[in-house]
Amino acid sequence: MKNEAKYENKIVLSNVGNIDPTNINDYIETRGYEAAKKIVSNEYTPLNVIDIIKNSGLRGRGGAGFPTGAKWEFTAKEKADKKFIVCNADEGEPGTFKDRLILEGDPHRILEGMIIAGYAVGAQKGFIYIRGEYSTAIERITNAIKDAYEKHYLGNSILGSSFNFDIEIKKGAGSYVCGEETSLIESIEGKRGNPRIKPPYPGQKGLWNYPTVVNNVETIANVAPILLNGADWFKSFGTEKSPGTKIFTLIGNVKNPGVVELPFGITLREIIFGFGGGISNDRKLKAIHLGGASGAVYDGSILDVPLDYDALKEKEGMLGSGAVLVMDEETDMRKYLKNVLEFFKHESCGQCVPCRIGTARLCEMADDIIEKGGKEVNIEYMKHLTDVMFKSSLCPLGQSVIMPVKSIFKYFNNEF
Ligand SMILES: Cc1cc2nc3c(=O)[nH]c(=O)nc-3n(C[C@H](O)[C@H](O)[C@H](O)COP(=O)(O)O)c2cc1C
Ligand code: SF4
Repeated sequence: MKNEAKYENKIVLSNVGNIDPTNINDYIETRGYEAAKKIVSNEYTPLNVIDIIKNSGLRGRGGAGFPTGAKWEFTAKEKADKKFIVCNADEGEPGTFKDRLILEGDPHRILEGMIIAGYAVGAQKGFIYIRGEYSTAIERITNAIKDAYEKHYLGNSILGSSFNFDIEIKKGAGSYVCGEETSLIESIEGKRGNPRIKPPYPGQKGLWNYPTVVNNVETIANVAPILLNGADWFKSFGTEKSPGTKIFTLIGNVKNPGVVELPFGITLREIIFGFGGGISNDRKLKAIHLGGASGAVYDGSILDVPLDYDALKEKEGMLGSGAVLVMDEETDMRKYLKNVLEFFKHESCGQCVPCRIGTARLCEMADDIIEKGGKEVNIEYMKHLTDVMFKSSLCPLGQSVIMPVKSIFKYFNNEF
């Protein structure tokens, strides 16, 4: 049994499971659309909204932890005929299904966050780029958009104000790299989802070269509660540099896998042995792959590190999407390495040589390690190749292969 009460610390998931996500009135009864109503009735100027988000310290939950207020301010300052808000609901990270829970369980929270973001930066149109396989989420969001138009939370002159905002859905087609913000933008434009060279960043030149804010679902779901309860309330959760909560997806060899929202500063020991109930079959913990495929793989020495965006940088890793993949003592780390590398090879868009060729060569060498005992494989060369990919790949997909590869060699050296 999970100790649910102890792990009840919810901002983002407060409505999930408690309201009927297909009924807009249920959302309204939980103070839904109250923040949007306040701002469109001119209680706050766009600058006020940006200041509140900046003061709250909210950081993007899509992986990089970029400050949301600074991102909005950047786009707000751009002079352009049009601007866009994009909600990144592609969620292709292996072992991650947190955004799905929000989309399915509290769809109006996303719409409200996007309306507020649009008002703050001066955008009148939003897109939700949603993972194509998420059929229930697509249905719920579609239904929520229809109901929000009927109640005038969306459309022209929202609630009698002078602010107009429309939202449209675009479905992804199963490509991991389309979750990267510039390939996602290409995909919405109807092109092949190849990443663009940055700069310029989407905040300056995004959709059809207009300034565009791209934010993750979980980031956007924090916006309305912050506007309602204030920046100081939000900062009372989490750590100084990573305020608020994070949704973790706990998977692998644990007794109770699942999704849990916890304040930053929590440790992996609490997540795995507290919420997760420990390692399945009472085996020993061997490894934790933290933050998704591009994150680092650790041994048990990471268990007591308080988790926030900065603490993990020091550990040459990242919190990423919040995926916590647990492996027990029976796991063959050579095969796991191969598995991760296969994923990168498969998802590489092929646009640039270091990633296209690099991922293929790394897979071949990982095969040799497994099949020939690694005698002819130069592990130093594999590490060097990931350095080259880090320095020369066009987008973060190729650049990030270095993290799982080097950490596996570091923490599980005796297996190679
Ligand atoms: C290969 C790759 C896949 C990504 N997939 C996602 C994704 O599924 N969802 C997401 O929100 N961000 C994803 N990102 C991060 C986005 O590029 C972007 O940083 C994020 O959507 C910004 O939102 P935030 O500021 O709210 O975190 C991915 C990045 C890379 C490099
Ligand atoms: S790094 Fe990989 S995914 Fe990114 S552009 Fe190059 S080939 Fe494509």
